[in-house]
Amino acid sequence: MYKISANTSFIGKSVIYMPSCHSTNDHVGTLLSQDKNLKEGTIVLTPEQTKGRGQRGNTWESNPNENITASFLLRPQFITARNQFQLNVAISLGVFDTIHHLAPSGTKIKWPNDILVKNKKVGGILIENFIVGQNISHSIIGIGLNINQESFVGDFPATSLFMESNKKFQVPRVIETLLENIENRYLMLKNEGYDRLRQEYYSHLFWYHETGSFQEILPNGEINIFEGQILGVNENGCLSIGDESGKIRHFGFKEVKHLY
Ligand code: BTN
Repeated sequence: MYKISANTSFIGKSVIYMPSCHSTNDHVGTLLSQDKNLKEGTIVLTPEQTKGRGQRGNTWESNPNENITASFLLRPQFITARNQFQLNVAISLGVFDTIHHLAPSGTKIKWPNDILVKNKKVGGILIENFIVGQNISHSIIGIGLNINQESFVGDFPATSLFMESNKKFQVPRVIETLLENIENRYLMLKNEGYDRLRQEYYSHLFWYHETGSFQEILPNGEINIFEGQILGVNENGCLSIGDESGKIRHFGFKEVKHLY
């Protein structure tokens, strides 16, 4: 059982603790289907997720009791469906702030919203937006943060705060900091708008204005590898890459991969 007392005004004020569950994102969805007025900021926490979901239909690996696996409800009705990437930026920065403060160095955000330390993934974010009309009606925000796990078996290089610092952390205290940072970034977006957040996102973006290799899948199924520089993220959340021929190309989430 975690005791959470974050210094926030709404995120994490109502905590639902599950000793084990399939997926905290799915559990928030179930709670919403039972009560459509579920309070904004309600969070589901578990030390053991048995069917954790990642982006692109991947699974999320996390040893029981060692990491953060949590999801909460937001109602960002001030964000239009067109601008929904702004929410990714605010949440990514809140997670970034938390890791950057605890890990010695090398924290980056990899588009769209992976958190890396020294090129290895320490955190992942799964945002599920529900659109009504032109705007987001509500969002389920799922966060997996690797805290005390000592090794990973998956294909993608992963790390934890422990592996980077050789220190063990108290998971409930990191959750409190995480909720405070996310609420702070979310309220910045709501009250001040997107411009400053976008600049900060760029300042921490992996390979921003650097040359790297990318892989795209062509319409005929073939793989094309090309060199390019990340120039930014357009208003649709697509990654803008300047390729070797000087052309600026825009890629959606499943259309391009960083190769490293
Ligand atoms: C990614 O692939 O990078 C996103 C991973 C998101 C994992 C978290 S863990 C808590 C929440 N519940 C899930 O099933 N997934 C998210």
